[in-house]
Amino acid sequence: MKKIVVIPGDGIGKEITDSAVAVLKKIDEKFKIGLEFEYHDAGGASYDKYGEPLTAETLDACKAADAVLFGAVGGPKWDNIEVSKRPEKALFGLRKGLGLYGNLRPVKIYDALIDGSPLKKEIVAGADILIVRELVGGIYFGPRCESEFVDGVERAFDTEVYSVPEIERIARLAFESARKRRKKVTSVDKANVLASSRLWRRVVNEISKEYDDIELNHLYVDNCSAQLAIKPTQFDVVLSSNMFSDILSDEFAAIGGSLGLLPSISIGGITNLAEAISGSAPDIAGKGIANPIGEILSAALLLRYSLKNENAAQAIESAVDKTLADGYRTADIYKDGLNRVNTVEMTNAIIDRI
Ligand code: IPM
Ligand code: MN
Repeated sequence: MKKIVVIPGDGIGKEITDSAVAVLKKIDEKFKIGLEFEYHDAGGASYDKYGEPLTAETLDACKAADAVLFGAVGGPKWDNIEVSKRPEKALFGLRKGLGLYGNLRPVKIYDALIDGSPLKKEIVAGADILIVRELVGGIYFGPRCESEFVDGVERAFDTEVYSVPEIERIARLAFESARKRRKKVTSVDKANVLASSRLWRRVVNEISKEYDDIELNHLYVDNCSAQLAIKPTQFDVVLSSNMFSDILSDEFAAIGGSLGLLPSISIGGITNLAEAISGSAPDIAGKGIANPIGEILSAALLLRYSLKNENAAQAIESAVDKTLADGYRTADIYKDGLNRVNTVEMTNAIIDRI
């Protein structure tokens, strides 16, 4: 048996993990993997029950599992609680606790959705990008101060810190990933201003010597965000720090027409964790209208990276392709004349096509 820990979390997390689990059950029927699902709480849901966003029990269950399927955490209900108890802490606790230093976010432009892109068709057509995000370092985890007074003036700070080994391992992951793709890495930093970026660039250059089959270029993050709108097809693998990747990945995702389409998988540690990048979307939570595709494609990444089942992963990906080509659209990607469906209907349409 292969044990998958499912963490629905908050907001649309429950709806989209239900969808992904339904798809995985169909896959299991077809490919006889022997999947076993075990549910655990995290985020606001866990805080409400146990007073902690991430319990040791949940973390231990993830460590013992073959893979983790994660929904989303956070919402306005928990906006004003103590910082150390915020729902997002669950995600950071899992990423750090499982040692997941690399997060892969593939951005694909579906032919069927190209008209839904905010970019012109001729600019976005053919864009196919893999964001490799450093996930357990940088400003997300550096020393910080919520509030201090200096000469009577209140201030706060966060710190971007990267060590050589942290940069080396994520750079290797980017080069290895590029080897399986179009053999190009764009490393994104702010080396004209930040010391941590200058170290980043130096180490990435050093590691690139081990990969002379891979083309490497560097972009400043401000220029990268412009280049994305101007010519997204220039990118293959995009490598960046925790925060720059976080910001860029939403922009990259948006060119595909919806944040709800994008999957991700966090790797490099004890147990991989798959999650849609859409977040908890509290405004639409519980309405049954969320787009489940990002989470369903995350389940495909889970099959590919954790269970090493490429055929099963592709079965999901091509079913999603077909479903979109057949005109099924959740509200976020709906266009006149197409088949408007809710979360469950979209999920069933995908299952029918597996
Ligand atoms: C993401 C999310 C998280 C992040 C939030 C929910 C803390 O935006 O995975 O991209 O910033 O890492
Ligand atoms: Mn984000």
